[in-house]
Amino acid sequence: MRKIVKENYQEMCSDICQEIIMTIKTKPDALICIAGGTTPLGVMEQLVLELKSKQIDYSNVKFISLDEWVGISKETPGSCLETLDTNLFSKLHLKDEQVIFFDGKAKDLNNECLKMNKELAMFGPIDIIILGIGMNGHIGFNEPGVDVNLDAHIVDLDDTTKQVMGKYFKEQIQLEKGISLGFRQIKAARKIIVMANGEHKKTIVNKVLTSTPDVKIPATILKDVDNCTLIIDKQANGE
Ligand code: GLP
Repeated sequence: MRKIVKENYQEMCSDICQEIIMTIKTKPDALICIAGGTTPLGVMEQLVLELKSKQIDYSNVKFISLDEWVGISKETPGSCLETLDTNLFSKLHLKDEQVIFFDGKAKDLNNECLKMNKELAMFGPIDIIILGIGMNGHIGFNEPGVDVNLDAHIVDLDDTTKQVMGKYFKEQIQLEKGISLGFRQIKAARKIIVMANGEHKKTIVNKVLTSTPDVKIPATILKDVDNCTLIIDKQANGE
């Protein structure tokens, strides 16, 4: 894992946006994965502007889901799908077949995992994946203690995740489980970018940087991965 510190959030997002654009230019049918959550919102904003203003052909690109809260889907503001749809997919007017997403409301969640594994076997590996870091070091919903050999799987949300989840939703909802791509699929991506910004991420970023790879802090699992870059702003750097 390489570490890059940028002056501010805008610069981080701009660099990451350019990486995605480069991926699409090199491979017009690229498979792209962008985490839900707050961190990548600036990347989505810049990506929409760049793809449109530079008239880049993204008609064959596919976007694949990283994770979702179990029990909710697109109709719930703050779900991963709603976040990506509002900020990226709908703005790009993507065709249905360009979006492969977990349905957090699926009756058969195991089947939902199998479906995702099949999609990845067919269209994968992911060409570029943009990840955030949870306050407990989680990646997607790969929570502390995760089995790193898993593909898509259902997880019990960690206590920290349950505490933090309120920030995503207008209404108070209590969710217990998540559905997520596994580390096997994440690590197989051709390019991995982990991003973190802001003072509130400084402690966890520091823990990731100073710990040896251990599932107790899931993001550390990516430290051994060559094609992985951690991009942070000055506020999230050092402690
Ligand atoms: C969330 C999501 C992840 C996200 C991470 C960080 O719970 N499951 O996909 O990357 O935690 O979220 P944020 O960017 O909002 O800090």
